[in-house]
Amino acid sequence: MPKIANLSRHVEKQLPLDTVKLLKATGQIAYKRQQRCYLVGGMVRDLLLERDNLDMDIVVEGDAIKLAREITSEKPANIIEHKRFGTAKIQWDGGEVDFVTARAETYAQPGALPTVRPGTISDDLARRDFTINAMAVELSPRHFGEIIDPHDGRHDLENKLVRVLHERSFIDDATRIWRAIRYEQRLDFQMELATLELLKQSTAWLRTISGDRIRHELELVLREEQPEKTLYRADKLGVLAEIHPALKGDIWLMETFSLAYEYALPDLPSPQLYLALMAYRLNADQVEQLISYLRLPKTTAKVLRDTVSVKTRIEELTMQGPPPSHIYRLLHGHHTTALTANLLATDDDATEEHIELYLNVLKYVRPSLKGEDISKLGIKSGPKIKEVLDSLLEAKLDGKVNDRREEEEMVRGLSGKS
Ligand code: CTP
Repeated sequence: MPKIANLSRHVEKQLPLDTVKLLKATGQIAYKRQQRCYLVGGMVRDLLLERDNLDMDIVVEGDAIKLAREITSEKPANIIEHKRFGTAKIQWDGGEVDFVTARAETYAQPGALPTVRPGTISDDLARRDFTINAMAVELSPRHFGEIIDPHDGRHDLENKLVRVLHERSFIDDATRIWRAIRYEQRLDFQMELATLELLKQSTAWLRTISGDRIRHELELVLREEQPEKTLYRADKLGVLAEIHPALKGDIWLMETFSLAYEYALPDLPSPQLYLALMAYRLNADQVEQLISYLRLPKTTAKVLRDTVSVKTRIEELTMQGPPPSHIYRLLHGHHTTALTANLLATDDDATEEHIELYLNVLKYVRPSLKGEDISKLGIKSGPKIKEVLDSLLEAKLDGKVNDRREEEEMVRGLSGKS
């Protein structure tokens, strides 16, 4: 990592040209307004680590919305203003930047969102989670690229340490417990010893956080490149159990997540698939508790319910050589992600084969004849047509009818007109 106090060369080397231009223009416009503005947070950390990150946050000592408006008056870009929070987002072809007013925060009570008032860049950095996230880079023309590092974040970056700024940090905001573990595992860092002690003492404060916010943290974990590392560590630290005591971040989960990773290549597995794998070993009641605590959206809730329901019907599937129509009936209607989760999680070869057969072949099978063809063949009433279609599907799945002619023959047989 560079031992330098000015990052302008890094900014120029690592960021796309139009982003660099935007940063410089932002600094100039702010300067004319007699304000200072700074690049902050994860982007500064990742510039120093030479890791890709296009998620830009700019802090302004002054009105962030007015500054963002002035920038968009000079550059073709879209602006989204959040007046209530005093923030603005600028979007253009090449990316997006968030603008916020520098602020000082106080926590009225643990777990609640903080009380906020305008402040200086020092106030703004002092309210942050970890030293490695509490650095800023100046954007003003004469100081462009200078690092502001009041908490010695660079030192911790060099020593690969995640360190809180003060000892109430995890109590003020217990979501930082998840964040600490996530950064530690993502960056291959370690928790600084006092920070680790504070974290261990603070896990119960996770109960002060709403299920919605915990779900958000879990989503961030599941979007990591190797979420299993974070979950393993979270289990060891008693943090995972705060979501649900039956969840495990063990070797089985590590291995199953790796299988999911290979299965999804060249993409990453969806957070939903990972969550289904986490839920795979829960029972139906535990899954309901998880769904209601995390307030999971409808589709995700269905995926989890289906995952466990398929698993509990697995014994039927493990029977040797069930006819394809039997496999179809058992698996049909379950969410594909739930089936994939079972495919990856089962250790039974026959089950694996049956799910694969369903996913790759059976679920696409349809009779050639449509409802109107069947009614032309002499079957009139509505419900009867549905029954005939079902029988045709079953026969087709099991290879008893193989083409349209054979289907017609079968229908004639059923209608007594053969
Ligand atoms: N932050 C904080 N406490 C939190 C959440 C965020 O102090 N509970 C601060 C940190 O300084 C962080 C910045 O807000 O760097 C931006 O938050 P976020 O976008 O979540 O994190 P990044 O650092 O950008 O990290 P990531 O790479 O995970 O997006």
